[in-house]
Amino acid sequence: MLVVQVLVAVAARRKYVAFTCQKSTAMTTVDFARRSSATELMDSPSIGFDEFHQCLRQLTIVNGCVLAYRPTLRWLKAMLRDAPSDNTISILDVGSGGGDMLRKIRPLTRQRGINAELTGVDLNPWAKQSAELDTPPQMNIRYETSDIFAFDPSRRADYIISCDFTHHLGDAALVRFIQWMDSHARRGWFINDLHRHPLPITSSRPYFTRCRSAR
Ligand SMILES: C[S@@+](CC[C@H](N)C(=O)[O-])C[C@H]1O[C@@H](n2cnc3c(N)ncnc32)[C@H](O)[C@@H]1O
Repeated sequence: MLVVQVLVAVAARRKYVAFTCQKSTAMTTVDFARRSSATELMDSPSIGFDEFHQCLRQLTIVNGCVLAYRPTLRWLKAMLRDAPSDNTISILDVGSGGGDMLRKIRPLTRQRGINAELTGVDLNPWAKQSAELDTPPQMNIRYETSDIFAFDPSRRADYIISCDFTHHLGDAALVRFIQWMDSHARRGWFINDLHRHPLPITSSRPYFTRCRSAR
């Protein structure tokens, strides 16, 4: 709760930034001082498997380009330094999407000779299908479909992580999620998410405008 209040306080102090996209006929204004509550295409109930799967694959490319895996991997490496190699540890990825974060984690646990149960949970049933399609069976990663707030309350994991997930939650749900992780993670939890900033949004706009017109 304290962490969230600090984050909200810091965000509220950040400068309001507005920009217009000159090539577009519609003027777009983005308020970077507040969390966005806009829904994303991938949260829409009408999205089909092909579009969801493509969206997750593109996200994998973007995650790679912006080095999004590094903070989680760095944190996990530090956590696993003291992990006993004779015990099995469990890692739960919430909002696991196409499973790319867990696929990055598997080589890490194998290099260290650690037995690790890797599980991804995602609200959208397409995510499990998409992740299973892109995950070689020998990686031995399990994907489940569930709203994290309806997840079996008795289940625990040693480490709970999320990548690009928390921005899908409203303020109250975000606080609830942090409390949920705090009570369900035996050893630690880590949130890795986007920092909304004018630079990536303005620089990627021409690309996404082209994508939209090609749809
Ligand atoms: C932007 S994607 C991130 C996917 C993946 N972690 C990555 O970094 O590529 C966010 C995912 O969170 C899932 N999600 C949203 N709300 C959820 C909830 N309440 N419980 C579980 N998953 C949820 C969405 O279905 C979506 O697949």
